[in-house]
Amino acid sequence: MANRGGFSSRLGFIMAAAGSAVGLGNIWGFPYEVGQGGGAAFVVMYLIFCFVLCYPVMVTEIAIGRKTQKNPVGAFNALGYKKWNFVGKMGIFSGFLILSFYNVIAGWAFGYVYEMAIGNFDIATHFSEFTQDVFKVGAYGMVFMATTAYVVSKGISGGIEKAAKFLMPSLLIMILLIVGYALTLPNAMDGLRFYLVPDFSEINTQVVINALGQAFFSLSLGMGALITYGSYVNKKENIVSAAAFITLADVGIAVLAGMMIFPLIGFMSGGAMDNVGSGPGLIFETLPEIFGTIGGTFGAVAGTLFFVLLCFAALTSTVSLLEVPVAYVVDEKNVRRSRAVWLVAGAIFLIGIPSLLGNGYSEFFSKFITYPGSETATDFLSFIANVANDTLLPLGGCLIVFFAAHVWKKHNLDEELSHGAPNYKGSFLQKYLNFAVGYLAPAVLGFIFVITVLKTYFGISIF
Ligand code: PHE
Repeated sequence: MANRGGFSSRLGFIMAAAGSAVGLGNIWGFPYEVGQGGGAAFVVMYLIFCFVLCYPVMVTEIAIGRKTQKNPVGAFNALGYKKWNFVGKMGIFSGFLILSFYNVIAGWAFGYVYEMAIGNFDIATHFSEFTQDVFKVGAYGMVFMATTAYVVSKGISGGIEKAAKFLMPSLLIMILLIVGYALTLPNAMDGLRFYLVPDFSEINTQVVINALGQAFFSLSLGMGALITYGSYVNKKENIVSAAAFITLADVGIAVLAGMMIFPLIGFMSGGAMDNVGSGPGLIFETLPEIFGTIGGTFGAVAGTLFFVLLCFAALTSTVSLLEVPVAYVVDEKNVRRSRAVWLVAGAIFLIGIPSLLGNGYSEFFSKFITYPGSETATDFLSFIANVANDTLLPLGGCLIVFFAAHVWKKHNLDEELSHGAPNYKGSFLQKYLNFAVGYLAPAVLGFIFVITVLKTYFGISIF
């Protein structure tokens, strides 16, 4: 087999996979989902999903990847179950969709680097004009996609791993500093209460659907991103502990992002938390304000630095999203890596154009679809996010665990997991994972998938 490259070290894999997981999903997506989902009750659901259901899916994906050393389609073929490679194909399709809209938001974040650098904190109240300037934000998006393509074209250890190792820790430090500052502001505690004290009457079907979608999206699961990264991992790696670290890092950063945003919203609104459901614009409208309160050169420097780091967090995620279809084309279609990268990146950029136009510029894409039973129209970007994050990823995750436990078989999964983890066999964790991968996750994910489809696309609520 041709040399596919691989991670050069244990830390390199963990950092790259954590880099894939930590991204806009944590800092942009999580706070706005919490805002729309009623606060702490959403957070509780999300945490349960991450640890109880998603962690087993993550372990399974990495194990399948390492066992087969293949992309998500090739992996099912290599295990001898060609019929199942539709799961991999669906994953690649999801990756296309996700990257197409993700890149638009990354373009916004990139544009904010400039806005902060020139001290334009007023952008907080002009966000919708910003997103409607489609030629400008389109150009930002194009630069972002080109950068992603460049990193992916450099291959595994040269590009992805190097970038992640340095940038992830910097982001963490920056967030901690902002959290520290935000907590000292007046009315910060009102924000924190909304975020951390659950009101369980807020939980309804929609909150459950969104929390599960957010958990999958944030952990990069259900589409084979971690099958692909797993395929570059060495047999000495301990998968169960690496996956635990990745899950904790991802959840930790999301929780911290909330600790940064909600106190700030409390501060800005004088303690009123009934207006936090502003949606995808949330961080773009609240964060410039905090840098504005700091003010002056220092505010501009802090703001610039924050959005630079956010762009890097997004970049380590876009890189993993692009790597999935690229690995597929390289492995299965024998296309040279550099060529595959630019072809796929160009195609995804084009698919993203409706998501770019649907934020006020084009009436058609801004009011793209009205779901049955809903009064308001959904824009194209949100529609694609619903299809990919809330529907396809949990379905993909469900099929992957079902496949691993009942088709490929649990003892094979256990065998793969015990490489690099000598104490795994016979442990409590093994028993839990057997139960979760075999029964709990397929059943719960399958059930929520059915509910999601009925509710979202047919307007039928069983609960
Ligand atoms: N997990 C990434 C984020 O939170 C997004 C992502 C989803 C990346 C799926 C890869 C695969 O930003």
